[in-house]
Amino acid sequence: MEPINIYSGSEVISRIYVEEGIETLEGYLEGYQHVFVVMDGEVAMKCPVAYEVSQMLNRRGVPGMLVEATEEAKCMDTVMNICGWLLDNGADRDALVLAIGGGITTDMVGFASSIYKRGVRFAHMPTTLLSQVDAAIGGKTGVNFGGYKNMLGTIRQPEFTFICPQVLESLPMEAFQAGAAEMLKTFMIEDNGHYHAAVDFLKRLTADFIAVCEDDSTLSYQEDKWPEVLAARLHELTPLIAAAVRVKAGIVSRDQFENGERRKLNLGHTFAHAIESLSHKYHNDIDHGHAVALGMVYAARLAERLELAEPGLAAAIERDLDESLLLIINPYPLERMAGAMRKDKKAADGKVHFVLPRSIGDVTVQDLTVDEAIGLLS
Ligand SMILES: NC(=O)c1ccc[n+]([C@@H]2O[C@H](COP(=O)([O-])OP(=O)(O)OC[C@H]3O[C@@H](n4cnc5c(N)ncnc54)[C@H](O)[C@@H]3O)[C@@H](O)[C@H]2O)c1
Repeated sequence: MEPINIYSGSEVISRIYVEEGIETLEGYLEGYQHVFVVMDGEVAMKCPVAYEVSQMLNRRGVPGMLVEATEEAKCMDTVMNICGWLLDNGADRDALVLAIGGGITTDMVGFASSIYKRGVRFAHMPTTLLSQVDAAIGGKTGVNFGGYKNMLGTIRQPEFTFICPQVLESLPMEAFQAGAAEMLKTFMIEDNGHYHAAVDFLKRLTADFIAVCEDDSTLSYQEDKWPEVLAARLHELTPLIAAAVRVKAGIVSRDQFENGERRKLNLGHTFAHAIESLSHKYHNDIDHGHAVALGMVYAARLAERLELAEPGLAAAIERDLDESLLLIINPYPLERMAGAMRKDKKAADGKVHFVLPRSIGDVTVQDLTVDEAIGLLS
């Protein structure tokens, strides 16, 4: 597949390769003399494809380091450990640091690489759907700090991002759903016919999953069955990943430093962050994918109340998300969500940039206070 490029003006500043197999990765590393790999330790253990890559890198004599990919470990200490390890291993200005893992790993490795020796080159091999369609594209790097997510970071583009959907074979269901929600979000921003294709794909996966669970005659979802269900349909996912990457690469090319259009990628996230922080506080365990899905429904409802969208859009999105196993009942009343939204760092000066869908594939940004938004939704 032709690379998907990110541009600054007419200059290509990052390339994304979406490939069915991992064989071509070695070729993309050819031009780099000193490669260093930083990998999520769990991925090294659980993902056979990533293990194969690590064996290939071993044979090339590439030094490797394992990191822990949790939000707690996504901090300056880990970044300092990565920098210390690079120093101990003689990494110089000509180094290429390859991150293998999900968004936590690519964010941390991108950050460490962007400050080590005032910046060395880095590349990503994302291993979650979320990082393939979102986190590993666009050059945002960072760590959590002071109780806030991604408070410290830089914007610096990877040399390239190598996406191989085969790595998703070992991805747990919850992590897949986080990526699926972000993929639908991307197509709600820019559709080109992919939103409904993605929903149809998710519906087929859901039907397969339910059939496999029913076979076992227990009446509950068995998430351990998810990887085999997904593996059978991964080939259908590849073009959707490529389409989502194209949308994000286009937005980043037009607004690398988030002065305008790039904000659209936050669709649903103001509500989602509030739900996630309440879930954290009350130990309800609502994961990112379900929070983003609810966030998109609230954004659509708000668009309807502001008469930006035709009545019925929110209900249609809700139905799509439900049939894709992405919808849950929100346990939090709006007033409680308002409290959490006011604490969001992005709402600090009163107004929040709400990203609102006018229709599938067309969103607009509207500045409202939290009280205005919640008042309209009540
Ligand atoms: N830089 C950006 O633009 C951007 C955008 C969105 C999100 N993010 C960040 O991304 C992070 C979330 O990333 P994520 O959801 O991709 O994943 P993650 O790195 O949080 O990984 C999720 C879990 O899946 C495991 N895992 C990863 N790949 C696997 C595989 N192939 N098989 C089995 N297990 C696997 C990990 O070990 C981890 O336990 C957040 O910290 C968020 O802030 C960054």
